[in-house]
Amino acid sequence: MYPERIELNGHRFRRFLTRQQIAAIVERLAQQLRRDYAGVTPVCLIVLKGAFVFAADLLRAAGIPCRVETIRARSYGTAMHSSGRVEIQPPELSLAGADVLLIEDIVDSGLTLRELLGFLRRQQPASLRIVALLAKPSAQELQPQPDYIGLEIPPLFVVGYGMDYAEHGRYLPDIYALEEPEQGNPTQERTSFAAVDLSQTAE
Ligand code: PRP
Repeated sequence: MYPERIELNGHRFRRFLTRQQIAAIVERLAQQLRRDYAGVTPVCLIVLKGAFVFAADLLRAAGIPCRVETIRARSYGTAMHSSGRVEIQPPELSLAGADVLLIEDIVDSGLTLRELLGFLRRQQPASLRIVALLAKPSAQELQPQPDYIGLEIPPLFVVGYGMDYAEHGRYLPDIYALEEPEQGNPTQERTSFAAVDLSQTAE
């Protein structure tokens, strides 16, 4: 077990979700996917890099026959805020007529998802659904919403379980949140840890 508090690339982070809590969230999502994709063989489209760990656990937990493809979307670079510009590297597999399940680690500003949906709709899939492990409140203004959300979280900067800060921390089995208030937002700190409703994970 990694410690409760860690330092990554010069910033302090504190554990926010344990691997057990994450596993419970993933299992609940997997049950929903088993129910909704019975008799369907979707193309599970993993958004790289951040979703690679979540997708690996989710696909094995769900156990639904599927094809797997990846799509690269990048907007944060080495910063803690979106650059506002999303670079997309298209998948090799044709998605025309496919039942596409897009697998995202986190929906933050919603910009990445909006750009991905625009790109994917132009491929004319038969159906398109989105599963996101985490979503922040800002994502609630997004249309459409992800079809499946593991956990809604406060506006914290999180790393681990595939998610990074400037490429650091993706390997961590737990999810950590930045402890320090971000510049210009001094109220965003520890109180936010108590605000998350973990009862959503108890199923
Ligand atoms: C992160 C994350 C999501 C996106 C969410 O990707 O994996 O794809 O940002 O942010 P948004 O809702 O504000 O657009 P990032 O650009 O950091 O690339 P990465 O997955 O390679 O880390």
